[in-house]
Amino acid sequence: MSSPFISSAIQKIRFLLTKEEKIKWVGIALFASCTSLLEVVTASVIVVFAQVLNQPDIGQKYLSMVGFSSGLVPGRIVLYIAIIVGIIYLVKNLVAAAEVFYQNFTIQKMNYLFKEKLLHRYAEADYGFYLTRNSSLGVTVVSGDTELMFSGGMISIASILSESVIFICLIGMVVYMNPSLAITIFGVSVVLWLFSIKIMLPQFYKWGQRMQEAALNSEQNLLQFFHGFKEIVLLGKREAFVNAFQYHSRKKSRIQAIQTATNVLPRMIIEVLFVGLFVTTIAFLCLEHESPVQMLGVLGGYLYLGFRLMPGLNRVINMLNVFKAAIPSIERVYKEYAVSAKESYVDIPEFVFEECIELKDVSFCYPNVKKNALQNISFQIKKGECIGVVGETGSGKSTLIDVLLGLLKPQKGTVLIDDMYLVGSYQWHQKIGYVPQSVYLTDDTIEANIAFGEKKIDESRLNAAINAAQLRKFIDQLPEGFKTFVGERGIRLSGGERQRISIARALYRNPEVLIFDEATSALDNETEAKLMETINAVSQNRTVIMIAHRLTTLKNCDRIVMMEKGSIDQITTYEILQKNKQVVV
Ligand SMILES: Nc1ncnc2c1ncn2[C@@H]1O[C@H](COP(=O)(O)OP(=O)(O)O)[C@@H](O)[C@H]1O
Ligand SMILES: [Mg+2]
Repeated sequence: MSSPFISSAIQKIRFLLTKEEKIKWVGIALFASCTSLLEVVTASVIVVFAQVLNQPDIGQKYLSMVGFSSGLVPGRIVLYIAIIVGIIYLVKNLVAAAEVFYQNFTIQKMNYLFKEKLLHRYAEADYGFYLTRNSSLGVTVVSGDTELMFSGGMISIASILSESVIFICLIGMVVYMNPSLAITIFGVSVVLWLFSIKIMLPQFYKWGQRMQEAALNSEQNLLQFFHGFKEIVLLGKREAFVNAFQYHSRKKSRIQAIQTATNVLPRMIIEVLFVGLFVTTIAFLCLEHESPVQMLGVLGGYLYLGFRLMPGLNRVINMLNVFKAAIPSIERVYKEYAVSAKESYVDIPEFVFEECIELKDVSFCYPNVKKNALQNISFQIKKGECIGVVGETGSGKSTLIDVLLGLLKPQKGTVLIDDMYLVGSYQWHQKIGYVPQSVYLTDDTIEANIAFGEKKIDESRLNAAINAAQLRKFIDQLPEGFKTFVGERGIRLSGGERQRISIARALYRNPEVLIFDEATSALDNETEAKLMETINAVSQNRTVIMIAHRLTTLKNCDRIVMMEKGSIDQITTYEILQKNKQVVV
């Protein structure tokens, strides 16, 4: 059951790589095989050297082959041969060093390019995609799993290939020198191979999976701990969070300890087996040769072969284990890469918003939920109009906005601008300034938060946005002005200040349409009243959709949509509601 795992994981890596990268991967394996072959050459050189030490005339033969004159004294022969051996070793190690650098640089380049590619796909994924998932999944896949796939998965396969080359060559040499010994070594290796494939590898796969789970859980826990620290302290749940983290982190460490320790075991087994083989070889040779001195050369060769084969075999088994442990990560990267593939927003030609935004018979249902969040919604928002949306919590107001923004795709009905343009387009998003209920601020300066994600900040637009959002007075009294850092998620600002920064951010690109999703509901009455003045001021000459909890907030709106349980209850005006005494302050 384990080999298909390996081959299917390799298939997955191949799927994820570009053609060029696949060629590079083969290149890494070939380069590694080259150094392995050189290794075999050096192994035989040592055999030759051992022979020469024993019988210098053989050395003379070799030296004559490379152009040395004959009749050298034994001391000279040994010296020259030693120098040649030294040069061969130097070359081998230079090539080996080049290979190591090539391998690591190539793999790391693939690693960062792939991460970028994956993040691009996440960036293009549907907003709906994010509704059903935990954000630590993306974090672990991009940072941990991808890393493991490249450094663990790909390097191990390349190393296994190159080690196999050495192994086959060395075994070939042994076959040439002593067939019965070769058969014994081969038999032992097959037994070890089967043992690792059938017993060790499934276990490593299981550990890999459990470790991945534990890593994800502990990461999730950490994120929650730092994000929700205030609540955690106030609810007296510090211990509980630390304990939960401890549980997963300890589990992860334990599995890691078992995994690393078991990695060493095969080496010990192999070592014992090889020393056993070595003793057997001596016994064999003692029967064939008369004196230990005569065996010296051959024995030296065997020793080198043995001690080269041993770590080689050990490395193959280790690398298989490394690969096996990386398989769950490879599978997850593959799955995530496939899932985030949906192209969700479209590029349409630049257009001018002239008439209206229209929803026709729109129904929307969240994934894994039975009840529709929006039910047969139809209405029009004319250009330049100010629309208020009111309704109880959970009546579908935010969902309605997300549908208007093209973030959520309704299962039924259409949402079009001027009867032809799609809301799920970059061009529509460009025209919108959106102010959410809870502002997301990055741990950066006020300026960077307003120009959100823009490297070159346009000073005049920045100042216009600051003035319009009525942030000027606040910013002027800060020692560092708009270069002041806001702290993580704006922790150093008050709720009203954060909302104003959010408004300035929405205004920075001078949008035609402004959307406020309960932008003031988290504020106290006085701050809300002040902020409403700002909102009303920036709403002039724009199309505005304003969601509010309280009707009074919407008194400047042209029309008011009243939502109830995902449907429109009525569309009316503030004056009518006032006349009917429906306005409750
Ligand atoms: N991501 C989601 N997954 C499933 N159900 C959701 C999700 N977001 C909101 N809902 C449900 O959809 C309904 C409408 O929610 P929402 O539009 O946020 O209401 P409002 O903004 O009016 O308070 C609620 O019943 C809410 O529980
Ligand atoms: Mg809402």
